[in-house]
Amino acid sequence: MSARQSLPLPVPSRVGLALVGLLTVALSPGCRSTATRQQVATTAPMAHDQHSHARPTEVQVRHVTLDLTADFGQETLRGSASLQLVRSDLGAAVVLDVGDGLVVDAVSGPDDQPLPFALGAADPLLGAPLSIPLAGVDGDTITVHYHTTPASKAVQWLDPEQTAGGVHPFLYTQGQAILTRTWIPLQDSPGVRVTYDATIHAPTELTALMSAAKREVTAPGTTRFVMDRPIAPYLIALAIGDLSEREISPRCAVWAEPKTVERARAEFRDVGDMLATCEQLYGTYTWGRYDILVLPPAFPFGGMENPCLTFATPTILAGDRSLVALIAHELAHSWSGNLVTNATWADFWLNEGFTVYVEGRIVEALYGKERAAQETINSLSGLRDEIAELPESDQILHLDLTGRDPDDGMTAIAYDKGAAFLRRLEQIFGRERFDAFLAKWFAEHAFQSVTTAEFLTFLDRELLAADPQRAARIDVHRWVKEPGLPEDCPVPESRQFDAVDAARNLFLSGGDVGAIPFDAWTTAEALRFLGEIPVGTAAERLDALDARFHLTDSGNSEILAAWLEIRIRAGLPLPEAVAGRLESFLTRVGRRKFLTPLYRALNEAGPEGEAEARRIYAIARPRYHAVSRGTLDTLLDWTE
Ligand code: BES
Ligand code: ZN
Repeated sequence: MSARQSLPLPVPSRVGLALVGLLTVALSPGCRSTATRQQVATTAPMAHDQHSHARPTEVQVRHVTLDLTADFGQETLRGSASLQLVRSDLGAAVVLDVGDGLVVDAVSGPDDQPLPFALGAADPLLGAPLSIPLAGVDGDTITVHYHTTPASKAVQWLDPEQTAGGVHPFLYTQGQAILTRTWIPLQDSPGVRVTYDATIHAPTELTALMSAAKREVTAPGTTRFVMDRPIAPYLIALAIGDLSEREISPRCAVWAEPKTVERARAEFRDVGDMLATCEQLYGTYTWGRYDILVLPPAFPFGGMENPCLTFATPTILAGDRSLVALIAHELAHSWSGNLVTNATWADFWLNEGFTVYVEGRIVEALYGKERAAQETINSLSGLRDEIAELPESDQILHLDLTGRDPDDGMTAIAYDKGAAFLRRLEQIFGRERFDAFLAKWFAEHAFQSVTTAEFLTFLDRELLAADPQRAARIDVHRWVKEPGLPEDCPVPESRQFDAVDAARNLFLSGGDVGAIPFDAWTTAEALRFLGEIPVGTAAERLDALDARFHLTDSGNSEILAAWLEIRIRAGLPLPEAVAGRLESFLTRVGRRKFLTPLYRALNEAGPEGEAEARRIYAIARPRYHAVSRGTLDTLLDWTE
């Protein structure tokens, strides 16, 4: 598939300069933001996005104004989205994406006059195209009046029982990859960047937050937001709940439920240093604030890089900062992903591979080479495992997602093969040159959506062509367009891991568990140890390990999840304590990365395991976000 579809004719008004910073939304001077008004140029012609119905070369949405009321009783968001358009073709209709669950009530034009609209046939994956004819309409702003329903997949409404406080309900949205269209009617393509402002009405006892540079409570229950930088629609995010804030550094704060916020503040105390490190490497942080919102455990991801406000799972609150690489990762997206964005989901590795690379650099700068090496080695072993399972066609960085959910591209290929490619380039050209190269990539493509082809052209021009001798040491085509992991993939070394391997071998050959220095290990070392315990290991050996190191009671979600999977794979029935912990974990935590392997292991553990998977899933399913439900419904062959 060629992701790049050049325009038949130059369309100056579409291409030229997309000016932002023209918003005249008044906010009090007390509203905190370091963001300044600026003009942003988007110059590259637009890549065709097969995951959107939009036709932005004809009419393109450039600014969204939301006015929404959150009704927790009905579980709906109701109100309007006013869209400011750039009309390159005055005769053309604007085509928006409308996902399942979003109901269009009416459309009005620039003078508030009702406009006709047509909802086309819904594609099961993409939703329906909403066409609003504009021929004869004078002006460039239309308003869609709409409401969401519980079927809107982006939005999860949590009952009070699913929160730490247990008193108030909670709401959050998750847009990536193609779910924003289920709560906002717009051109839901990462190539169509928009600025936005929003007025959110919510119960007065709750706090509303968005992925925006400016926030102001303008009246009890009403909060105004402004995002004055053009962002991809999947980055528009909203959360409403009983939230409090703790400052961490001048530009960073953490938001969480009152019961969780102190723990979160302590866990994330290094975030200011992470931000400074990243700025030193790749240039000024352009988003003003970098805050973190800790969500209830139902959140389906580890983290989501919503600009100005990363959304994070509480399962990284290990108490010892051992899982904060995830914050480094989401922060790194401020450059790779939010500033320079994949133009289509086939280019997803430009977001994630670059981000994993940068994450590694932050971890190295803050916590040292050894920790960074350990985390990379563990990721690479995950990558090898995944390569063994994936069809060859899905082992390629530049993905073919024809007719598929972009979610299918969320594999270790984009993340870890992508990062390995960049580490290989760094190895060949040296850190100094590679750092300058990446900084220039971000600077020259700031606020643009980019394709793999554009990156390869830039790579050629800025790095390879300048030094043919070094360039000869890498086969770029092999890395980007061919399956598998190239032999020249750099693998860091860790002496400590050698010691962990030795301890594991001793344990597996019947040695005393007391001789394993498990409690002295880093989380990465513990995961290395657990990661290679063979499926056939006798239950008694595992019991001994558990008795000594209390793995079933581990407060570290990564260790716990790895341990539970080992126990399931060692055969059922599980010891009572393990079975109890498994059920409480699966019914409380909605993070897909943990759920999938655990349900899969159960489902593969014979008829008893299969029945147990289905019994627990029946209880837990209503508490999961649609993203996790989708994956698990398929895995368990579940029909409601
Ligand atoms: N942007 C992703 C999450 C995502 C990707 C959501 C694709 C929907 C579709 C985020 O930055 C991410 O990669 N999160 C990871 C953590 C990271 C440390 C690998 C996750 O949630 O596991
Ligand atoms: Zn990511």
